[in-house]
Amino acid sequence: MSQVLVASNRGPVSFSFSGDGALIPRRGGGGLVSALAAMTGDVRNPDVLWVCAALGDADRSAARRAPGGRLGLDGHDTGGAAVRMLDIPAATFHRAYNAVANATLWFVHHLMYDTPRAPHFDARTRRDWQSYEAYNAAFADALARDAAPGAKVAIQDYHLSLAPRMLRDRRPDLRIVHFSHTPWAPPEYFRLLPDDIGAAVLDGILGADHAGFLAERWAAAFLDCCEPLPGARVDRAARTVTRAGHVTRVGVHPLGVDGDALRARAAEPDVAERRRALRERVGDRRLILRVDRTEPSKNIVRGLAAYRELLARHPEWHGRVVHLAFAYPSRHDLHEYREYTAQVRRLAGQIADEYGTAAWEPLILEVEDDHPRSLAAYGLADVLVVNPIRDGMNLVAKEGPVLSERGCALVLSREAGAAAELADDALTVNPYDVSQTAEALHRALLMPPDRRAERCARLAAAATALPPRRWFAEQLAALD
Ligand code: G6P
Repeated sequence: MSQVLVASNRGPVSFSFSGDGALIPRRGGGGLVSALAAMTGDVRNPDVLWVCAALGDADRSAARRAPGGRLGLDGHDTGGAAVRMLDIPAATFHRAYNAVANATLWFVHHLMYDTPRAPHFDARTRRDWQSYEAYNAAFADALARDAAPGAKVAIQDYHLSLAPRMLRDRRPDLRIVHFSHTPWAPPEYFRLLPDDIGAAVLDGILGADHAGFLAERWAAAFLDCCEPLPGARVDRAARTVTRAGHVTRVGVHPLGVDGDALRARAAEPDVAERRRALRERVGDRRLILRVDRTEPSKNIVRGLAAYRELLARHPEWHGRVVHLAFAYPSRHDLHEYREYTAQVRRLAGQIADEYGTAAWEPLILEVEDDHPRSLAAYGLADVLVVNPIRDGMNLVAKEGPVLSERGCALVLSREAGAAAELADDALTVNPYDVSQTAEALHRALLMPPDRRAERCARLAAAATALPPRRWFAEQLAALD
């Protein structure tokens, strides 16, 4: 088997400083890292190298201290891969990650601009863009240096859309896949980007041999965006884009979850302890659960508003239901995210004031990162709400049914990539329609237990159809 290199912004490990300045490693967070850490274990290739960015000062210090820049970590943390952490200057990293990747490309792909906040691309954008180019070049340089002849390279996400082209220019012998973990914007929205930047993003990904997406609709949108690109020939039936003699195949790989690994994790004592605490807090009330990053695209505010409308329209639920909203802090360098989190907290406070009594806590919002607690809550939930305005896949919608003990009903946005596989057994909603979402919550609560259990079993089966290992193996196979 040939050597495999993985490249992503966030790596499988990250460091912090202890009080006395020592480096403490911990597992990197987020869905992308979990999926990739699970999969590198299964490649059964000792020669997997994972290239990622140093995210802060402690990471930079670890990267500098590691011999040759490679961190040898035990297999549990990294899925068996060696890690090379790139020591990218802090200002370059900040502009590439925050200004371009998260505040521009993420916003475009999730249709997150609104009219008062329409983008304003100016000289500063060009400066940020140069940092994004330098950041991508740092990855391409490292990959070009470390890759054996003919190696396979898997480049992840919108942070690294230029790296495939840059790497192909440096090392035409390599076989490259780029994978988008986000939605892809439709062409009329993608056109918001300055022409040169939009063209560079597409051209960058077209440097790969295979461009992977989570759902059919995102792959189709990418092909639509490539259509007007000068020199590009799009063949929709074959799902290829040909440019300057190079063919990029476009593939759909709907990432699922590893049911056995997830159940094994949920059986650990830290989860059991949290399950006991939650049980006590919820009592014999029905439980509506949501688990998200504090991320505007996750649509937490409209979700809470729907719960409020449920309580207003259906007083029969007062005292009989609890809504748990777990929100992991995310991207707080961006003011839009800080503002959004504040908005979520305000609305949660209002609902608690309006409906809470000495005997009944209608809504519990926890803004903190406690993964084992979420796993415990999945087991207890009667209803799981996943209502993003747009989402590449959404793995919460897949993890919940797998860990459900009572057979939970899933209220699911039709705009999540997961809807392509789960819509038949979920209650699907238009994520902007708060009233419809409130009614779906009501119907979910009323669903007879046997029907709920049947549907939940089918959701779990669909959720585990393509576990991370097979998802990754499929992409590597597409390079042969
Ligand atoms: C989510 C998205 C991924 C993205 C990741 C980055 O998981 O679905 O597309 O790569 O966030 O998150 P971060 O916390 O590193 O900004």
